[in-house]
Amino acid sequence: MKRILTGLKPTGDLTLGNYIGAIKQMVKMQDEYESFLFVADLHALTIYQDPKELNERIRKFIAMYIACGIDPNKNTIYIQSENEYIPAISFLLECNTTYGEASRMIQFKEKSKQNANFSVGLLTYPVLMAADILYCDSDYVPVGIDQKQHVELARNIAIRFNNRYGETFNLPEPLLNKNGTKIYDLKNPDKKMSKSEENPVGVISMFDDRESIISKIMKATTDNYNKVCFDREKQPGISNLLTIASELSNIPISELEQQFANKGYGEFKKYVAELTANHIENIQKKYNQILNSDILEDILNKGKEKTKKIAQEKYKIMKEKIGVTRNIIK
Ligand code: TRP
Repeated sequence: MKRILTGLKPTGDLTLGNYIGAIKQMVKMQDEYESFLFVADLHALTIYQDPKELNERIRKFIAMYIACGIDPNKNTIYIQSENEYIPAISFLLECNTTYGEASRMIQFKEKSKQNANFSVGLLTYPVLMAADILYCDSDYVPVGIDQKQHVELARNIAIRFNNRYGETFNLPEPLLNKNGTKIYDLKNPDKKMSKSEENPVGVISMFDDRESIISKIMKATTDNYNKVCFDREKQPGISNLLTIASELSNIPISELEQQFANKGYGEFKKYVAELTANHIENIQKKYNQILNSDILEDILNKGKEKTKKIAQEKYKIMKEKIGVTRNIIK
């Protein structure tokens, strides 16, 4: 079985966009692949985080993954920072990454422009991500398009390391969401729905209550065509709502178009709003049960033990190949 691995950075709240675009895809893949899923809490630290909020979010994220259908028996679920070998591996990889490569990353270029006092961690971030991916010889890394370049860097670092020191890492490949399901901001349907968005009127959080979900969808930006029709160019708002409705109901978009062919936007929005609120409410019920039970501890302990063993072994192999070991290399 091929191994897939992905991490989600615990900044902001998980959104409907994360659910439909990423988590639901992981749920589908859990039967086909051996799946590793973790909260990339160290990756959140490149920008200052309130410690208490960050701490709460780590548990919330994991409980939410499980509530969304990630099966703890089919996935290895863990917290990145609990595996101390990963940052250790990351440093060894940093020494096999050029400054040029790291500073050419688009995300680094954009974020370092936004804040002149950016941390060194912002530069080394993709190398830590390479450590996440390479320590367990992942085959595929499901990511959004914005992270594709980082997976390619991980692959290049692996190639360089293998060339210098001999076969050590499997070469990973990014796995982009094939059907391209992407959810856009309800107010700004040309922009991705983002958990780091400061103005949340167009963003549905998986933790929103029923009233806010309904009100946000009822206020979603539409257009003047008055036709419930999927056309990303001309009708981005309506197309976005159609995608959401289709994903949550499993009714194909074409059928939804027919169903609402002679109906106004008000009625269509009401349908999407109720559907979304019911769906999220159901997930939240499960979420609350999980958060208030002991199963999280169990799941996380198992994930930690298993992945630490794997990372420890890889770290040892790397050290021996590099020459930093007490044993004399033959
Ligand atoms: N950088 C990713 C993001 O911001 C999170 C992440 C960290 C990740 N390590 C990873 C994703 C390894 C995939 C594989 O979304």
